Amino acid sequence: MRLAASDWMHESVEGFRERARRRLPRFVFDFIDGGSGGESTLLENRAALDRIRLVGSGPRDMHECSQETCLFGRTIAMPLVIGPTGLAGAARSGGDAALARAAGVAGIPFVMSSAATATMEAVAEAGEGPKWFQLYVFRDRAVTLRLIERAAALGFEALEVTVDNTIPGRRLRDVRNGFTLPFRWNAGKLCSLLAHPGWTLDMVRVGPPRLKVMAAELDLQATETIAELMQAQLDPSVDWDDIKWVRNAWKGPLIVKGLLDPAQVGKAIDAGVDGIVVSNHGGRQIDGAVATIDILPEFVEAAAGQLTILIDSGFRTGSDIARALALGADAVQVGRATLYALAAAGEAGVRKALDVLREELRVVQMLAGARTPAEFSVASVRGARIPSVRPVAAVAPERLTGS
Ligand SMILES: Cc1cc2nc3c(=O)[nH]c(=O)nc-3n(C[C@H](O)[C@H](O)[C@H](O)COP(=O)(O)O)c2cc1C
Repeated sequence: MRLAASDWMHESVEGFRERARRRLPRFVFDFIDGGSGGESTLLENRAALDRIRLVGSGPRDMHECSQETCLFGRTIAMPLVIGPTGLAGAARSGGDAALARAAGVAGIPFVMSSAATATMEAVAEAGEGPKWFQLYVFRDRAVTLRLIERAAALGFEALEVTVDNTIPGRRLRDVRNGFTLPFRWNAGKLCSLLAHPGWTLDMVRVGPPRLKVMAAELDLQATETIAELMQAQLDPSVDWDDIKWVRNAWKGPLIVKGLLDPAQVGKAIDAGVDGIVVSNHGGRQIDGAVATIDILPEFVEAAAGQLTILIDSGFRTGSDIARALALGADAVQVGRATLYALAAAGEAGVRKALDVLREELRVVQMLAGARTPAEFSVASVRGARIPSVRPVAAVAPERLTGS
């Protein structure tokens, strides 16, 4: 028997995406769904994950199977983190707190964005789970420092500094749709409101979303696109000295988000960073960037166990999570997976999406013979680009001396 469309749409992230597409006005759906430029990285993230195939283990006693894992000294229910997504309140009013509460129910961390539509206080109080704060290094360092201090005072457990957004990517869907903050209305957008009454009534009830963390600290001028608004505030001169400066100001676990070059691993370790997120920002920054799953093994090799390695960009299923674990990631962050669910069905939708991801991961674990997330290994996959051990002895002496 085939699943009815309504069943399928509750049982996969792809189904939540379809429901989000139907519920949101086009300009909001495109803001969430879109990537930069020709969206080649957006597509490649998925294609690269699909190229890696999983291997079933054959018979193995899988009586006991757990998804629990340890991140920065804390046990979490599965190797998954809800990553930072700015403007979550455009998907659904109260979106940031709903994501935080759903993460808490699932027993996984939630990363609050600097571009959140809720206050830091509201998110700190939302639900029981661990919360991390995503920091942008703003041009105004006093503001940046104040955010670090407030995050510490409010009990955020880790700080995630995003370094791949010093200039926002060229997101052509936003340009085409005139996605501005505050929202600016034209005939097309007003028609779109009428066609999406659920979203429209939700926004009328609470008012349009505002970047509450940033608005409280910075003078936000209305701009043509949201990218321009961010560009006016973010500092393009950020380098590893700034990360060291953040390291001095923040005592808890420090994570750098947005690395794609494994050569940066040594600098991260020198700067005293505890973890990194291998990320191409979900295909929203460099169009043409490498897929994160393809470059992950090089990071794992370079870090040699000295950093916690998270990965994001394109992850939609438990099988995707298993692929990253097999290639050495400690956990996966998701952006759109839970945003689609939020847009489609609010907090209940996010809870359901997290249940689906956990169940999908459990099924793969059972069939691939991984009793714990750590038991996935390169033997669990085929088709990945694993860096080969350099065959030094095999190189002819004359090549080594250049003669
Ligand atoms: C609508 C949206 C808003 C985002 N806002 C932020 C943000 O404020 N800070 C940040 O570091 N990353 C942000 N990201 C990037 C995500 O944290 C993450 O890197 C990306 O979504 C991962 O890809 P995925 O959506 O395919 O899971 C955003 C992504 C989306 C889709």
